Amino acid sequence: MLKVAPSLLAADFSVLKAEVARVESAGADLLHLDIMDGHFVPNITFGPQMVAAVRKHTDLPLDVHLMITEPDRYLESFAKAGADIICVHVETCSHLHRTLSRIRELGKTPAVALNPATHPDTVFYVLDLVGMVLLMTVNPGFGGQEFIPAVVPKIRQVAAEIRRRRLDVAIEVDGGIGPETAASVVSAGADVLVAGSAVFGHEDLKMAINQIRQAGEGVRR
Ligand code: DX5
Ligand code: ZN
Repeated sequence: MLKVAPSLLAADFSVLKAEVARVESAGADLLHLDIMDGHFVPNITFGPQMVAAVRKHTDLPLDVHLMITEPDRYLESFAKAGADIICVHVETCSHLHRTLSRIRELGKTPAVALNPATHPDTVFYVLDLVGMVLLMTVNPGFGGQEFIPAVVPKIRQVAAEIRRRRLDVAIEVDGGIGPETAASVVSAGADVLVAGSAVFGHEDLKMAINQIRQAGEGVRR
């Protein structure tokens, strides 16, 4: 089933509990939490305490996207805070295999993310270790950026490799995803669509999520 993961980055942080409830009742499949450190990306968001605060108010799986250098230093904190999926960027890990194994040891689902300019081969040797590959469709750091169509062939390449090896690995896309871009990424092989502004930018969150889901489902193979 195609999944929609609203990104809390676009929510109103001053009423986060209510925003979590709103997006949950609107039909979110998982919640995407963007952790930014001001080093790997030119923006700062929040850390494990915020993840723990969100955890108290929802049973939805928490998909924690670490856009931070030296992610190994914080894996345990995010695991304890209640993350279900912990996603690290390949560009931040000198020992990617070790980092992903550690996430699994902590009882969480490891995921690996690639920036738009990063070659897909960089994750082929760890595909058997992860539950999900996240392909960035914008340069990470901010919500509301324009989708980069050059990533679509990369989605196809990763999907083909996963199929060839008969692995159970989901493909997630993140950045500039909305009803207009969902079809192209899903037809290329995306299973999980992260959407920030396309969800929270609407009054009616349920309608926003349904529009994204329908645009994707329409072309799903
Ligand atoms: C960007 C983040 C995204 C962001 C997406 O660096 O990783 O998760 O919230 O926002 P939209 O959907 O507005 O592009
Ligand atoms: Zn993200």
